[in-house]
Amino acid sequence: MVCLGNICRSPLAEGLMRSKLNFTKFTVDSAGTSGGHKGQAPDKRSIAVANKNGLDISNQKSRKLIKEDFKNFDILYVMDQSNYNDVMALAITEEEKKKVVKILDEVFPGENLDVPDPYFGGSQGFENIYRMLDRATDVIAKQIDNRIE
Ligand code: 4NP
Repeated sequence: MVCLGNICRSPLAEGLMRSKLNFTKFTVDSAGTSGGHKGQAPDKRSIAVANKNGLDISNQKSRKLIKEDFKNFDILYVMDQSNYNDVMALAITEEEKKKVVKILDEVFPGENLDVPDPYFGGSQGFENIYRMLDRATDVIAKQIDNRIE
């Protein structure tokens, strides 16, 4: 799960995805393209909206996306077009490029929608992205279950 700072959107996406997958079978992680908040816990507003929904993301630590992530993960879900462009710029092979997916494409294929950056807004923005990511991770969890069956 990849966003810009790895403190608002992708920590929520990571927490939600983890809660919906069998953790002994899947590795879920998140990172930011900027690295500007490296080592920091998620934004208080993301922690709060997660808590409200029974999810604890407070132990996560922000890290920067690295090239090895293309080897270590099968899919890199990005939140918005800017993340997509930044991550694609790091991908070298066609196989790596194919791993990069805008997360809302899983819910609204072909619509090219963004999970908006909530950093400079109020708590409503965090409620909004929580709902989007809850829905997206539901769809992804179901796809993965389907693949195993
Ligand atoms: P995120 O949100 O990419 O969802 O973690 C942001 C966090 C920090 C900043 C921008 C977006 N920032 O400008 O510091």
